[in-house]
Amino acid sequence: MSAMNTHSNTTASGGPREVIVDLGARSYPIVIGPGLLERAGSLIAGHLRRPKTAIVTDENVAALHLETLVSTLEREGIDTSAIKVPAGEQSKCFTELARVSDALLEAGIERSDTIIAFGGGVVGDLAGFAAAILRRGVNFIQIPTSLLAQVDSSVGGKTGIDMSSGKNLIGAFHQPVLVIADTGLLNTLPEREFRAGYAEVVKYGLINDAAFYDWLDTNWRAIACGDTAARMHVVESSCRAKAAIVAADEREHGQRALLNLGHTFGHAFEAATGYSDRLLHGEAVALGMVLAHGFSAHLGLCAQELTGRVAAHLEKAGLPVRLDQINGHLPPPTELLNIMRQDKKTEAGKLTFILTRGVGEAFVAKDVGDDDVLAYLNQVPELQ
Ligand code: GLY
Repeated sequence: MSAMNTHSNTTASGGPREVIVDLGARSYPIVIGPGLLERAGSLIAGHLRRPKTAIVTDENVAALHLETLVSTLEREGIDTSAIKVPAGEQSKCFTELARVSDALLEAGIERSDTIIAFGGGVVGDLAGFAAAILRRGVNFIQIPTSLLAQVDSSVGGKTGIDMSSGKNLIGAFHQPVLVIADTGLLNTLPEREFRAGYAEVVKYGLINDAAFYDWLDTNWRAIACGDTAARMHVVESSCRAKAAIVAADEREHGQRALLNLGHTFGHAFEAATGYSDRLLHGEAVALGMVLAHGFSAHLGLCAQELTGRVAAHLEKAGLPVRLDQINGHLPPPTELLNIMRQDKKTEAGKLTFILTRGVGEAFVAKDVGDDDVLAYLNQVPELQ
């Protein structure tokens, strides 16, 4: 089937979809569909060594959905307890990691038990990291509740916390044994958060699937309005794209870095805005992707009009595309460049960028010179 056909017909027939992340003995399924939370207990039961779990969640998700999850686990005879963290990026820190780890030990979680990360990207990264280090590693299951977590952070085993000098600088690769993406939960997401997650969806089209990008450009309104089939297609296509990249390069020695399209610029803006709700991660990625295209055009790799096209699509979907849409002051280009140097992909002092030759033609560039980055940032009007 051609890529175009893959994205042209998306009627929601049949039940949930399944995408496998193929990592040999550590392979796992991502189950996708509406209404899965109510029957999560039966989906989870077959993946437990012992029917004992601990749920890590945040206060917002707990208020809306924790009771449903606890009930379905109890119906399957699975023992569980819940640990809540404050909602927001600030929870990805050593203090919360220590508090959650203590609570897991107090709950009697042993090597053969399972931790359930139930929430958005913050909860998944924090609970996953706790699972990676608790008793030198226990199994964990992801039940992502945000679009960003369903299409990106819950898949692929990256876990960790932030440091004052940068995001995700302490962490581990620790793959879940199961991911349950209940697309119905997306209906309870604040609109701003949904839109921020959509930036990561667009990313997959821009990386290597022009047909998916075109499909998004036609269907973004149905996706935003909550069309079940469209949302399932979005989550399934994104997970398929991510699963293929993770299966080929789990530890990011090569092409997994493509998943960071827009992130080198984006992380710098997040750091500069204090990881606050001045700028959500997905919003930073949207801005970063516009700049990554602008930078590619500046280097003569792609047509300048491509930047405008990408920005127009993201803007239609309600995402920021110009730096003056960030509230408050941004540091000057030289300072932004210094922040970018903390990027995990920096090698021998050289920044790595994901650049592009066109829609679906992104590539990893490891030899980008500081001068080129500065020359580009110095001509971005909002940074003057
Ligand atoms: N979110 C980027 C990755 O998982 O590699």
